[in-house]
Amino acid sequence: MLQFKGLSKFYQTGQVSQQALSNVNEHIRAGEMIALCGPSGSGKSTLLNICGLLDLNYQGELYFDGVKLDKDPQHCMQLRRQQLGFVFQRFNLVPVMSAYENVEYPLMLNKVPSQQRKQRIMQILDAVGMADFAQAKPDRLSGGQQQRIAVARALIHQPRLVIADEPTASLDSHTAHQVVELMKAIGKSHNTTFVIATHDNRMSEHCDRQIELLDGQVLSKEVSACVA
Ligand SMILES: Nc1ncnc2c1ncn2[C@@H]1O[C@H](COP(=O)(O)OP(=O)(O)OP(=O)(O)O)[C@@H](O)[C@H]1O
Ligand SMILES: [Mg+2]
Repeated sequence: MLQFKGLSKFYQTGQVSQQALSNVNEHIRAGEMIALCGPSGSGKSTLLNICGLLDLNYQGELYFDGVKLDKDPQHCMQLRRQQLGFVFQRFNLVPVMSAYENVEYPLMLNKVPSQQRKQRIMQILDAVGMADFAQAKPDRLSGGQQQRIAVARALIHQPRLVIADEPTASLDSHTAHQVVELMKAIGKSHNTTFVIATHDNRMSEHCDRQIELLDGQVLSKEVSACVA
């Protein structure tokens, strides 16, 4: 579903060039839930931003369903809208919108007619246990509740790929567990692929496979087994 070939990334700050990823080669299959692990600064967010087509300034190749991704910003925006969903550490809900409106937003961007929107939104709010909070603004919700809304928003348009950067880092372990299980359950019916950056070992246990980064390089399976 997602393949990296010889992926490298340099950040340029003034005269200084910092290599954040070095020759990453990986193949992620449709429906896999991947935990992207590694210490702070190892390149997890950098790789996620590239997978999420938020950063097009990299070297090497990215394949989406076997097709090499061109870096045309218009095409990438369309892919992001239709095929990708995002969950972030700090929830990133729009504060002036209700829970319902936050979840509705991706459907509006994808021009889903209003009669279909309502049914789909209420169904997913129910699935994340937030149907009673549809009209609440984010500041009235706990961190765990906000993250459940963010999960609903990431999955409402049935994306092929969900990118999550430390989605459970602000949550207690019980809530974190619930949030991952919800992502898994909702994603299952559409064979959604997940790439989840995490520091949290408990969280990687819920995933199908770990990709371990160190200094911008993927550790080989044998080495990462030793480190674990
Ligand atoms: N915008 C930027 N400009 C310059 N250097 C950056 C930038 N973003 C990240 N870096 C550098 O790239 C490397 C990888 O950073 P990245 O944020 O991908 O790590 P991370 O694994 O997500 O870390 P954390 O676990 O702390 O979130 C680090 O050395 C970091 O300092
Ligand atoms: Mg990060």
